[in-house]
Amino acid sequence: MDDLVSAFAYTAAERQAVYRVISERRDMRRFVPGSVVADEVLARLLHAAHAAPSVGLMQPWRFIRITDDALRKDIHALVDEERTQTAHALGDRAEEFLALKVEGILECAELLVVALCDNRDVHIFGRRTLPQMDLASVSCAIQNLWLAARSEGLGMGWVSLFDPQRLAALLQMPSDAQPVAVLCLGPVPEFPQRPALELDGWAVARPLPEFVWENRWARA
Ligand SMILES: Cc1cc2nc3c(=O)[nH]c(=O)nc-3n(C[C@H](O)[C@H](O)[C@H](O)COP(=O)(O)O)c2cc1C
Repeated sequence: MDDLVSAFAYTAAERQAVYRVISERRDMRRFVPGSVVADEVLARLLHAAHAAPSVGLMQPWRFIRITDDALRKDIHALVDEERTQTAHALGDRAEEFLALKVEGILECAELLVVALCDNRDVHIFGRRTLPQMDLASVSCAIQNLWLAARSEGLGMGWVSLFDPQRLAALLQMPSDAQPVAVLCLGPVPEFPQRPALELDGWAVARPLPEFVWENRWARA
């Protein structure tokens, strides 16, 4: 083994697979209509999500699998309403935004809503000054699911265009729980090599050196 590689490191091929899935994960909005995710694959993905780190080990994530078609349509309607509101808020980029595909709720094989749990105020460890660490923890779980899905050959799209209170009401959540993501999951026709927002000309990702500084905040 290379002297510079830790004795605890995975094999070169395993490490390569980890970096590969990280770089080839994409946010997906186009799915193969009428496709399915096998129960055992979905179970693996949810276990991957549930293996995420969480502040004070609070495990604040809750996953609601949407299997009722009428409910799926209601969620789609909520998202579409917020899409219109977002376009309005964008002013002169409204038309450009409306031309983007920003969700695949009606086509995807599986629809999951991820929520922050109720009664979070009892969790103080790591959250006294930074209560939003619950959301950070849920994000870790979603990223685990996203990466595991890509490794299984499945696409996932994170949709955050919705009014959280209305989605919470639709899913009968307690008043102190909060939905944070609608996840579209399933087989996809292809995985693009670059973010869809880049391919659609909406935004351009900036390179790493612009984000890494030493000893102080460095202005560009
Ligand atoms: C917290 C979060 C919320 C997002 N919400 C949406 C969304 O509502 N609609 C959408 O099309 N993409 C959404 N995305 C996907 C981003 O647009 C996407 O991650 C980004 O453009 C980079 O592309 P990539 O994920 O393919 O690398 C979201 C991503 C994150 C992390």
